[in-house]
Amino acid sequence: MSIIADSYPFERYPHCWYFFAEVRSMRRGSCHKVRFCNETYDLDIDRNGNPTLRAELATVMVDGRMFAYWGDPKKAIAAPSTAVTFPQEGWSQTFHRGYNVKTHIQEIVENAADLAHFQCLHHYVDIPTVDAFTIDKTRFTVNMRAPRQMFGLTTHSVLDTTYDGLAVVETDIVARDLSVKIMLTGTPRYDDVLELNLWFSLKKCGPLRDLFYRAVVPRMMTREFTNDVPIWENKIYKSRAVLCESERNIALVRKWSRQFYEDPKRRSISSGVIS
Ligand SMILES: [Fe+2]
Repeated sequence: MSIIADSYPFERYPHCWYFFAEVRSMRRGSCHKVRFCNETYDLDIDRNGNPTLRAELATVMVDGRMFAYWGDPKKAIAAPSTAVTFPQEGWSQTFHRGYNVKTHIQEIVENAADLAHFQCLHHYVDIPTVDAFTIDKTRFTVNMRAPRQMFGLTTHSVLDTTYDGLAVVETDIVARDLSVKIMLTGTPRYDDVLELNLWFSLKKCGPLRDLFYRAVVPRMMTREFTNDVPIWENKIYKSRAVLCESERNIALVRKWSRQFYEDPKRRSISSGVIS
């Protein structure tokens, strides 16, 4: 029995859009086996690079990446509109990191609202201040700011994060003259293994600075991201979580998340209890 099946009182694969495949980097003129939500799908890429998925899944292409909807295709009305098309002009190349993590996508969603963890895991000097938390149907946005340690200095940083459904996340981070645009996706591949993909690009700000940032920021991003992994892999889901004041938005995120679950037990995604 898997950890996920034992620990979460709701379905393993909620109904929403997920990153499916990086079509533009796949070999043309061949059929590819793609694992998705414990099923294997045939994805044909023709000689011109056009994809055809042999399945009854709703799909959409954004910037050479295929996204697939897990669930009733007729209900797949809100495609991931914020799936990032990385800007070319004025930005660096796009960096990519991929990880397999044994966790549930719900943990990735609640991460954004878990303010205290930014101070514990991500070199923030203080718990971030939330300027706005906005819910818009299948999306929510958190705008926050906090001082953080960066390159040995305390720097004022601003983070704007939008979840487009449970599994496509766009984040903009600005700290001094460093601007980073990030897309994070979570894709259930098999059993309780979630494939996390992180793409990011840096805004150009001058030749010397660009050289420096391109050398250090990818390593910094890798370190920051992998700090979360052991937490995600060892969290125990509490339906009736007791939340402190800085975790207030976790209750809102849980309530918002219910729309992606069809299991009759979805009420187990409680809104939490503020202590
Ligand atoms: Fe984190």
